[in-house]
Formats: sequence, C-alpha cells, structure tokens
Amino acid sequence: MISQLSHTLILLIASIIFAVAPADSEPVSRLINHHPGGAATSEIIEPDTAFSRPVATLPSSALPHFTAGATLFYTRWVARPAKQPALEGLGPLFNALSCEQCHRNDGRGRPPKDNLTEAEVTGTVVKFPLGSQNYGLQLQDRAVRGLKPEGQLQRRILSKEEFYADGQKVVLFYPSWAITSFEIAPPPQSYSVRTAPAIFGLGLLEAIPEQRLHSLADPDDQNNDGISGRLGIGRFGWRAKQTSLLQQTAHALINDMGISSDLYPSAFGDCTINQKKCHMLAGTGLEADTKFLQTVTDYVANLGPPPRSGEPENFKAGQSLFHSLNCHGCHTPSHKTGEHRLTWLSGHKIWPYTDLLLHDMGDGLADGGGREWRTPPLWGLGRHKAVNGNSFYLHDGRALTLEQALLWHGGEAESSRENFKKLSASERTALIDFLESL
Ligand code: HEC
Ligand code: HEC
Repeated sequence: MISQLSHTLILLIASIIFAVAPADSEPVSRLINHHPGGAATSEIIEPDTAFSRPVATLPSSALPHFTAGATLFYTRWVARPAKQPALEGLGPLFNALSCEQCHRNDGRGRPPKDNLTEAEVTGTVVKFPLGSQNYGLQLQDRAVRGLKPEGQLQRRILSKEEFYADGQKVVLFYPSWAITSFEIAPPPQSYSVRTAPAIFGLGLLEAIPEQRLHSLADPDDQNNDGISGRLGIGRFGWRAKQTSLLQQTAHALINDMGISSDLYPSAFGDCTINQKKCHMLAGTGLEADTKFLQTVTDYVANLGPPPRSGEPENFKAGQSLFHSLNCHGCHTPSHKTGEHRLTWLSGHKIWPYTDLLLHDMGDGLADGGGREWRTPPLWGLGRHKAVNGNSFYLHDGRALTLEQALLWHGGEAESSRENFKKLSASERTALIDFLESL
C-alpha cells in the first residue's frame, strides 16, 4: 500500500517536473546513446567509407542487391549512342554524370569555388521554385554535344562579424550568387541554391511513422515556445519537398542527369517547350528501368548511420547545453521507426536529431524559395571531413564550421542562437564537441 502510494507520488512529481519541458522530452541524463541507428547502426571499416556501409541489420541475402545499388550509384551515365547500352540516356541537359559525383562517398557536396569560369561538378544546384518557361525547374550547367548548357552559377563570398557576449569575434561568410546565362532569355530572378546533403540513414528516417511527425508539428505554436514546425510536402530535401526515397531518386535522375524513369517518363528531362534544340536531341522511352530505380533507391535506404565518435559519457556537458538552449525543439533527438517495406529498418530506436519539419529560419538564410527549411539530421556530423574532406554546412554550404552554422540560426531559432552567444568559451566548445560526437 505504502509503496503504491509513493509510486503514485513519484509519478505525480515527475509529471510536474516534465510538464514544463516540451511534451516529447526525456530527462537529459537518460538520453545517452552509443548507436544512432540502434541495432541498425553501421559498422565502420575505414573513416572515408563511414557513410557507405549498410545498416547492420541488413540480411546477408540482401547484400548482393545493396552492392548492385552501390555500383549503379557510382556508375557514370553517357549520352546516346554509347558502348554500354544499360546506362545510356544522359541529358540532353544535366549537372552530373552519376549520383556519386554530387554525393561523394555518400557524403555532402560543396559550393562552387569563387569566380569560377568553367562548370565543375560540386554537388550544388540552382532550383527555380516557381519553375521557368525557359529554364524549367533547375539550372543545368552541362549539356550533351551540340547543345549549350543553360548557364553557370557564380559565387562571390561576403562576410560579416558577430560578437559573443564575452567580446570574442567570429567572422561569418555568406555567398552572393549570380547566374551567367548562356540562354537567350535571362534566368528568373528568384532562385534557391542548394548543396547535396549526405545520404546515409535515410531509410530509417523514411520509416518514422507519419503520425509521429504530426505529433511534433505545432504550426500555430500553441505551446508558445517560439517554435512552430510544419509538415512539408514530404520529408526529403532541404525543403521537405520529396515524399519518399523512390520519389527523390527519380527526381534526381530527371533533373540532375536528364534520365527518365517510371515516375518521370519524359526522356527530354528538364528541357522546356521553349528549348527546341534540347527536345530535338532528347532520346525516347525509359532510360532508367524500374529495376534500376528500385535498386538505387534501396541502396540509399540501406545506408546505415555510423556509430558515434567518442564515448557519449564524455560529452554530457555539451548535451545538457544542447537541451538548455532548446536545440532539441527542432533537432528532436530520437524516434522509433515503424513499419518499412525493408523490414530490417522497422522497430528501431534511432537518434537522428531532427523533427523532419519545416521551420522559419529568418532572413539570413532565406532565398527565392522562402524562409523555411527542414531541420537537417545531426548524426554523423563529426565525420564529414574524413568522408570526403568536406565541412560545408547549411543548405548552401556557407558555414565552414559548426560554430558558424549555429550563428546563422534565426527566425524560430533566434533565442537558441542568442543564448548560445551568451555562453562562455568553454561552454561553446563543449556544445560543439557534443555535436561532433553525434
Ligand atoms: C547535380 C548534383 C546531384 C546529383 C547528380 C544527385 N544529387 Fe541527390 N541531391 C542533390 C541536392 C542539391 C540535394 C538537395 C535537394 C533539395 O534540397 O531539394 C539532393 C538530395 C538528395 C537526397 C535527399 C537527402 C535528404 O536528406 O533529404 C537523396 C536521397 C538523394 N539526393 C539521392 C540521390 C540519388 C540516388 C542520386 C542519383 C540518382 C542523386 N541524388 C544525384 C544533388 C545531387
Ligand atoms: C527552429 C528550429 C531549430 C532550432 C531551435 C535549432 N535548429 Fe539547427 N537547424 C535548423 C534548420 C532548419 C537548419 C538548416 C538551415 C539551413 O540549412 O539553412 C539547421 C541547421 C543546423 C546545423 C547544420 C547542419 C548541417 O547539416 O548543415 C547544425 C549543426 C545545427 N542546426 C545545430 C543546432 C544547435 C546546436 C541548436 C541549438 C543551439 C540548433 N541547431 C537549434 C533548425 C533548428
């Protein structure tokens, strides 16, 4: 009787304590995880392939399918007519020859170098959110022989200074973009420049039940914490526009490489009716067959998140700061995956640190597509450099360090940023160390 009473009392006290925290939060001391993907966390063999390993739960019978997908992800497409008929159909307009040219080592892309005069594959693309009669949905900076590319993205780097409460100065870089057009018509004024994100752990994110995302969304900020969060059309891409990995892969094929598939069957890719020569040079029929599309999609879905770098217990100070600055208001630490067609992705407790929702991030990050961005996952953050030498954070790769990425947070994350600026130098380091350990 007494023990039952004290049990009820503990529950009551606990409910009072946790009532002040967002509904989803658990006590920080219990949020220690070694394996961001639970049992599905991948096993690292070499630092540069940390993002290229399958989930540990992949059955050995599915390994050949995974390896076949990897090969297709890396294989370069060629224009017709070609010696390898299986992979012909590139273009007429395109940005890259393979998925891997932009997602190098399954990691992220980088912004173009300053004042570049010739197109190079960086993994950064220009999207026209409203579409353009002359350019379509994306700027293609390469084309098959006989056709001019649409134009080229030019970057100029600007900078500004920020100061912490303790007087310490930080320089923040940001790009000024311009499009040099090779078309007759000038390109639309309003566009969005986006750098390729890393692509591991995405099958697990796809397996998070829709209901879970609904429960985290708070579009009218009813709990009054300054953070709203809205479901996008889907959950993939920097603006959560793509509903599934299949959709995202088909979208990449048609816009980035000009390759038709079941979901986008037009062999002319992103050529518009005003681009007559582009239409003339287009092939016909499906260039990537159903099996290709599914195999590459499954490859991406099966890439596992790597284990944490370092002992989680050593990063408790930074972890507490992460919570006291309300970073977890958007970067939701953990989820439980639901049913997935790849059954080995189902039922895992995972730690991606994202709510997959759209948030207003303020004017500093806004572009022709608006002020809202989907919260990116933070798992694997400390491993990008080892994977492909890359540490360009945020949607356009402007932040060279995690510190800079934090200082660009605005809008719904304004108070998180301002409180971060009030921390001491050692607290700031502790927070960054925690992020790098994820
Ligand atoms: C020209 C460069 C480029 C190529 C080639 C490319 N991608 Fe991407 N990829 C991007 C960019 C940029 C984004 C972000 C798009 C956005 O914000 O909507 C992206 C996003 C993605 C995402 C979503 C990641 C997330 O976190 O939501 C997946 C999955 C993906 N690409 C897979 C592929 C596959 C598979 C291929 C090959 C069929 C491919 N990509 C080819 C540039 C590229
Ligand atoms: C209101 C929601 C919100 C809050 C609060 C928030 N973030 Fe973010 N965070 C985002 C979004 C959205 C982006 C992507 C913005 C972009 O790319 O333009 C982002 C980007 C990042 C990135 C860069 C990730 C990458 O892959 O490039 C890091 C690191 C990060 N946040 C850490 C934090 C930390 C630490 C805090 C707390 C101090 C925090 N965030 C608070 C929404 C939020």
